Amino acid sequence: MNSDDWDARYREAAEGRATVWSLEPNEWVVEALAELTPGVAVDLAAGEGRNALWLASRGWRVTAVDFAGVGLAAGAARAEQLGVVVSWQKADATTWAAAEPVDLVLIAYLQLPRAELARVISNAASALAPGGILALIAHDRANTVGGPKDPDVLTTVAELTEAAHALEIVDCRQRERVTSNGTALDTVLIARSPG
Ligand SMILES: C[S@@+](CC[C@H](N)C(=O)[O-])C[C@H]1O[C@@H](n2cnc3c(N)ncnc32)[C@H](O)[C@@H]1O
Repeated sequence: MNSDDWDARYREAAEGRATVWSLEPNEWVVEALAELTPGVAVDLAAGEGRNALWLASRGWRVTAVDFAGVGLAAGAARAEQLGVVVSWQKADATTWAAAEPVDLVLIAYLQLPRAELARVISNAASALAPGGILALIAHDRANTVGGPKDPDVLTTVAELTEAAHALEIVDCRQRERVTSNGTALDTVLIARSPG
């Protein structure tokens, strides 16, 4: 999907006074990141910013990046309601470059063909400060519950491990996620910048 398609999806939800994604942060994001010391974070492909807002509420200085401006606008409105500060940046994740070294790059369900996702991961790795963390969650290629069906925008442990080869892999595995439609399968990655 291109940015117009994503914007249309976010606009349709906003017109119905709804959101495309949940208001709550992703459960693995909370599980994996709650113990980190807050610093500078980027939520890449942030959508309506559910994870960016959660990070900001925990003291992170967060930039939420997405190429869909309508999704970001929904996030900005919610940030105002919640009284939290997030910087909202409209940009393409495949060409995005950080303005400063980043302690945490979060990528949640960015659905890109595998070569493009590998490029995004490599860019994200370059953006990290020494010791900085890349956290990524995506639909696993073996998933059968929800999510995109095109195998090229799904991923595997082997592909993420290879894409993050410049980093120290802390954790990379399949993870089950219970939904109202059944148990979905994600791939999760935590990797640390050396130094
Ligand atoms: C499935 S949504 C996930 C949103 C958010 N991370 C979350 O978990 O709620 C995927 C998001 O990726 C964004 N996206 C897809 N391709 C992108 C690209 N090349 N650059 C920036 N954003 C992109 C879409 O606009 C959409 O908001």
